[in-house]
Amino acid sequence: MVKDNIIITSALPYANGEIHLGHIVSTYLPADILSRFYRLLGKNVVFTCASDDFGTPILLQSEKQNKTPEEYVKYWKERDLKDFTDLGIMFDDFRNTSSKENIALTQYFFNQIHKNELIYKKEINQLYCNTDQKYLPDRYVLGTCPYCKEDNQYSDGCEKCGRAFNHSEILKPTCAICKNEPIMKTSVHYFFKLSALSDKLKSWLDNNQNLQKDVKNYVIRWIEDGLNDWDITRDISWGVKIPIEKADNKVLYGWFDNHLCYISTTVEYLNSKGIDGKKFWNDSTIYHYIGKDIVYHHYLFLTAMRLAINEEYKLPDFIPTRGHLMLQGEKFSKSRGMYIGLRDFLNDFPADYLRYYLTRITPYDQSDVNFDWDDFQVKINNELVANIGNFIHRVLSFTNSKYNNIVPEPGEFDKDDKELIKLIQDSKKQIEENIENNQVDRAMKIIMDLSDGCNKYFQKKEPWKGNSENTIYVSINAVHSLGIMIYPFMPNSVNKLFASMNIEKESTKWKDCGELIIKSGHKINKPEILFEKIENKTISEQKEKLK
Ligand code: MF3
Ligand code: ZN
Repeated sequence: MVKDNIIITSALPYANGEIHLGHIVSTYLPADILSRFYRLLGKNVVFTCASDDFGTPILLQSEKQNKTPEEYVKYWKERDLKDFTDLGIMFDDFRNTSSKENIALTQYFFNQIHKNELIYKKEINQLYCNTDQKYLPDRYVLGTCPYCKEDNQYSDGCEKCGRAFNHSEILKPTCAICKNEPIMKTSVHYFFKLSALSDKLKSWLDNNQNLQKDVKNYVIRWIEDGLNDWDITRDISWGVKIPIEKADNKVLYGWFDNHLCYISTTVEYLNSKGIDGKKFWNDSTIYHYIGKDIVYHHYLFLTAMRLAINEEYKLPDFIPTRGHLMLQGEKFSKSRGMYIGLRDFLNDFPADYLRYYLTRITPYDQSDVNFDWDDFQVKINNELVANIGNFIHRVLSFTNSKYNNIVPEPGEFDKDDKELIKLIQDSKKQIEENIENNQVDRAMKIIMDLSDGCNKYFQKKEPWKGNSENTIYVSINAVHSLGIMIYPFMPNSVNKLFASMNIEKESTKWKDCGELIIKSGHKINKPEILFEKIENKTISEQKEKLK
């Protein structure tokens, strides 16, 4: 059972480039759908995110562009937030990991963990480039994964097998700047005793029934294989300063502070509303939405850090994890042109088309999802336009032409009327269950089946032959119910729909689905077309762009 307070977060985008469709599919869209759904249910929802500002790649990029890292991340934070907003991703707050509050919280965690003797200092060998005269953390080094032996991996983790590791473990290292072989040089680093928390982590995983089983199983396998302590320091200047160190060129690793921004953003947001943020955090159901490439960081690092300070901040209940996005059956890749930026997409299509299509094709598991332009066209045209759009349009234009926009007075309901009302009520329950279980694709499918049932009802009743009061009365209410149901998925279209039906969106509640809320005598406005067919030419143009 979920609590009345619900906290939803989406993995923080690096302030280092634009948002693309790959980000949306696993992380932002399903989180936004859930938050809109729970708001309709009347829960106290806080949906937050932030830009992920620190780390080596961002420092490298800002140097290349002759900007300070502060200027550089500010640009991307604003740009990303605008793109999210235009897709209808409606965060309550969007802050940044380099904010004052997040730095303070990070240093607090460090101090507490240190006090609990779960952080220690150790002199280690670091990769150092003599040509560039720099220590080479993370992205500065390419090499071979020590576990699965995949080439071309950065020194902090492997994209192929998903393991995170310490940079000295990488095989055949080369400097990413000059391609020379680095040397080893000593440096003093801080380590987090991840190994000491193995039992606690395992029992948390064993006992949490909300986590996806397949992910849980392989994370447990990682623990059983033995966890390494985690190097939480980097020899660079851009990051959170280590509270017990004077050094200017040593900071905390980005993965130590970034997930803490879920907490700092949410708590600060609530505090600013006059609500005790920490209390709310600890009395809520917590969701962290992620893609499968950052399982290690969320199931182990994030959790271990909260355990290490005695769960002063509650652990997550759900970590919904989904797969990667493929494009036309190939790996999504900017350098090879197999790529769609969110801004580009939104310049060419309505946001809700993307929300519909991605929801429709994305299951609640780690399998990869394929964006295919032809399939996109088929699903928009045959489902969105020909099914839901068609029903809504028929009902509203019939009310317009035959009843002068006024909902008629019904007589006694016949069997078909009653059956349709029952179908709406049954569908509502199933949709609810599926969304609560994170099966948003299945929920969408049920809405489609319901809309199909509505079309069949309308067809069977033949209102154009006269005697159409019941049909129109029930159908208008069916459109209203469908509107509420699709709102979490396609909010822009529903805002448009409700405006044309003269219904106040603000007072809409989930429990109104399946009720006959729209009374006879209600006057609707002129109907508008909600969804339009995509032409073949439009699709070929998009495919051209990929070449
Ligand atoms: N910026 C990271 C990425 O894109 C995700 C950070 S999520 C958080 O992989 F947990 F650290 F916040
Ligand atoms: Zn070099």
